[in-house]
Amino acid sequence: MKTYFLTGAMGFVGSHWARNLLKSGNKVIGIDTKLTSPELLEYDNFKFFQESILNNSSRIDELIKNSETVLHLASIAEPDRYLQDPKTVIDISAIASMQIIEKCMKHKKKIFFTSTSEIYGKNTKIPFLENDDRHLGSTTIKRWCYSSSKALVEHYLEACAFQGKLEFRIVRLFNIYGPNLKNRVVSRFIEKALSDENLEINDQGKQTRCFTFVDDAISAFNLIEQSKKCKNQIFNIGTTVETSITELAKIVIKLSNSKSKIVFKSYEEQFGESYEDIQRRVPSIDKLKKFTGWSPNISLEEGLKKMIEYSRKL
Ligand SMILES: NC(=O)c1ccc[n+]([C@@H]2O[C@H](COP(=O)([O-])OP(=O)(O)OC[C@H]3O[C@@H](n4cnc5c(N)ncnc54)[C@H](O)[C@@H]3O)[C@@H](O)[C@H]2O)c1
Repeated sequence: MKTYFLTGAMGFVGSHWARNLLKSGNKVIGIDTKLTSPELLEYDNFKFFQESILNNSSRIDELIKNSETVLHLASIAEPDRYLQDPKTVIDISAIASMQIIEKCMKHKKKIFFTSTSEIYGKNTKIPFLENDDRHLGSTTIKRWCYSSSKALVEHYLEACAFQGKLEFRIVRLFNIYGPNLKNRVVSRFIEKALSDENLEINDQGKQTRCFTFVDDAISAFNLIEQSKKCKNQIFNIGTTVETSITELAKIVIKLSNSKSKIVFKSYEEQFGESYEDIQRRVPSIDKLKKFTGWSPNISLEEGLKKMIEYSRKL
């Protein structure tokens, strides 16, 4: 059993992983600015600090010192905020991450970092391999601040490990969904469908994503975190099943027996200024399979049913 320091412990992915680690008897020290998953406080082996990772405090230094591994998930991960608040996205996703990495080096702790499929940007070479190119737009297009922040952290982790000062694992996540998700396409569609309101789709809804159920992602996290072979490696985590946003809307409407209609909105109407979307995002998971034997188990229909059932009870 281990002691983990988990940043973003109250977030969607963080709270699922925390619960999984706690149930296996590990000790988790969580930090988050919000207290959005209060049920975690019921575990005796969970300690929680409601504060920001950005203040570089002596407490964070102490918490990292007292843990064995740092699971660094805290970030601004909601696409709306890349456009509304890019400064905070960069402060948390890049600058605070650097501060956490410095402390990991100081105390010789391993770090597990959640990066993103946005790393690959607009690259049209499908599927994305971990060492594929990044194709990004101009720095005047705000949405790229998230991808660039995560990429800077990846570079920094690689650089520190190259100096022999750090051990890391990086995962690039492809549209993880499940109970407790907020403010992303899957959760928005389910909320609207359950109240028979219109489901709004950007552009023509032909963009595809590979939706991955959170339990599958967590099982990949545990395999990667525990495997010595995965030291200083980067892995895509996702399903390879492509679903268009329109298809997703139709499935959600069907599974929730909803009377909702689908309406299409141009990017301009939705975002009010120049916006660039990524048309297809498909991971290659060959590397992860080779290193850990992992593959996803939960189909989109099965995962959506679980999420709809959970949302009905809220
Ligand atoms: N869910 C996905 O599909 C997905 C895809 C790609 C990458 N990721 C990455 O996975 C991680 C978890 O994502 P998520 O979907 O759970 O997002 P989330 O927004 O639910 O969780 C992030 C958590 O970080 C916390 N946080 C933000 N700023 C903080 C600060 N200054 N100090 C302490 N905590 C702070 C938030 O309050 C939130 O609880 C993030 O690093 C995200 O970039 C997620």
